[in-house]
Amino acid sequence: MDHLIPPHGGKLTELYVDDARSTELKKQSKDWSSWDLTPRQLFDLELMMNGGFSPLTGFMNKADYNGVCMDMRLADGTLWPLPVVLDVTEEFAKELKAGESKIALRDPEGVMLAVIHVEEVWTPDKTAEAKEVFGTDNAEHPGVNYVLNLSNSVYVGGKVEGLHRPVHYDYLELRLTPREMRESFAKKGWRRVVAFQTRNPMHRAHFELTRRAAREADANLLVHPVVGTTKPGDVDHFTRVRCYKALMSHYPAATTMLSLLPLSMRMGGPREALFHAIIRKNHGCTHLIVGRDHAGPGSDSTGKPFYGPYDAQELMRKHVDELGVEMVEFKMMVYAPDKDEYIPVDEVPEGVKTLSISGTELRDRLQNGKEIPEWFTYKEVAEELRRTYPPRSRQGFTMFFTGLSGSGKSTIANALAVKLGQVGGRPLTLLDGDLVRKNLSSELGFSKEHRDINIRRIGFVANEITKNGGIALCAPIAPYDNIRKEVRQMVSPNGGFILVHVATPIEVCEQRDRKGLYAKARAGIIKEFTGISDPYEEPADAEIVIDTTELSPEEATHKLMLYLANEGFIAGEDVE
Ligand code: PPS
Repeated sequence: MDHLIPPHGGKLTELYVDDARSTELKKQSKDWSSWDLTPRQLFDLELMMNGGFSPLTGFMNKADYNGVCMDMRLADGTLWPLPVVLDVTEEFAKELKAGESKIALRDPEGVMLAVIHVEEVWTPDKTAEAKEVFGTDNAEHPGVNYVLNLSNSVYVGGKVEGLHRPVHYDYLELRLTPREMRESFAKKGWRRVVAFQTRNPMHRAHFELTRRAAREADANLLVHPVVGTTKPGDVDHFTRVRCYKALMSHYPAATTMLSLLPLSMRMGGPREALFHAIIRKNHGCTHLIVGRDHAGPGSDSTGKPFYGPYDAQELMRKHVDELGVEMVEFKMMVYAPDKDEYIPVDEVPEGVKTLSISGTELRDRLQNGKEIPEWFTYKEVAEELRRTYPPRSRQGFTMFFTGLSGSGKSTIANALAVKLGQVGGRPLTLLDGDLVRKNLSSELGFSKEHRDINIRRIGFVANEITKNGGIALCAPIAPYDNIRKEVRQMVSPNGGFILVHVATPIEVCEQRDRKGLYAKARAGIIKEFTGISDPYEEPADAEIVIDTTELSPEEATHKLMLYLANEGFIAGEDVE
């Protein structure tokens, strides 16, 4: 393997100990405290132990951390762009003695994966860290949000000894460690290898870009997607791996390899590009493709991008000599239909028509079952994406009715359940207010706290049903806006969420008084009665508003069925 590029810092720092030491450490560990690793820490530990983070030999101490935050350098001067820290709670940190304590680092099942020899314990200035590392303390940046709001407040630094590889059950043959990757390159006789980093499904633009990059660098190609944590809302890694596998057959045989990287991304743009280069160097790659907005977190809520589209390339350029990893720069690729080929956007000849599909448009096409053209993505890749993102007609949805007691919620929900039963195709569950209170929430009363618990439970069940492709019809009063919004947020990523405000006025509800509850509420026999002695916050975000004063249940359900057809959840001919 001598002909391969040396790891960062000169040698592959694998931290695993031999069996005898492992047994000894396990025996000693009964006297240590245990820390259950968070997902970020688990992925960091995996790459630290297998040499992916060479030359790191543990979680950073203060001097390394400060150097990295301020100057992108470890205390010994080695280039290193992002902190790799072990964050713990204040309470846990109280028991630790710097220079003495050892901590058993455990996976979620309780298996001890490693030990850290505690050298330093400190409370970092996280706002300063965010500003230095990410260039902002705006928590809309997912990396900043992690540091400021999700990670624990105390950092522990020290050397790590590794006992076990973290357990994975998926794609074992594709999870090559730096050593395994180097061995594989050596066996294949690959010297020059260009790595492609990605956290997204790969389409034809990526395919063409990677082929060109490999050709330009006169190198073999390693498709090296991240399967650790990526940006919230990304396509799940199972779907992506199926897409990557489908794509691999399009590369000329024996030129390209696919392997999965258990990295926890920080979405740190330029600094993260350097991080990616170092990790790929440790895996034996000589080149890294850096495209537009590499590892970028997108824009803030005012629409301002956190980083410029080519900032990452600029920072890489400054450091390529020191890194020893070459950068293959790429502009965005666009499709020229007249030539039937992809061209970097800055090389498009004048007057040549080009096409591209944005991420947002792709999501829209997937969601609405619209065509995904073959010039954009290979058929097999589109099919995999469609399996995960079926068109709306096959997605689950929640219809959430809110309104006063006696407004007609249950009547309409029951009638709609019958209509949808006639359509068929999806399992349906009716979560009527009274029914839920009998079965799911029998111990609850009607305080705000209890009503919120009740609605959160309904939301949980509705979400599970929606996620699994069914229909949930919920009909509680749900008088509070915040909790209705919480349910919407929970369900929306997994299917449809339709809020129906049954806005029958209180006078009409009270006049009907089918259950005799209004009379009791007026007489003070029932306390905290919605609309009489308890609030009802009218929704401003309802998709549909129905007033049953004038509308019969038949007419109301017709309106709902029309809405469902217009939105693509059912076919037009299913509306009678
Ligand atoms: S909530 O606010 O969403 O948790 O309420 P919900 O679970 O839908 O329960 C409402 C039904 O309980 C009966 N009931 C009351 N409603 C409102 N306020 C008070 N204090 C109250 N006490 C009992 C009433 O029958 C409601 O059913 P519907 O079908 O809405 O009439």
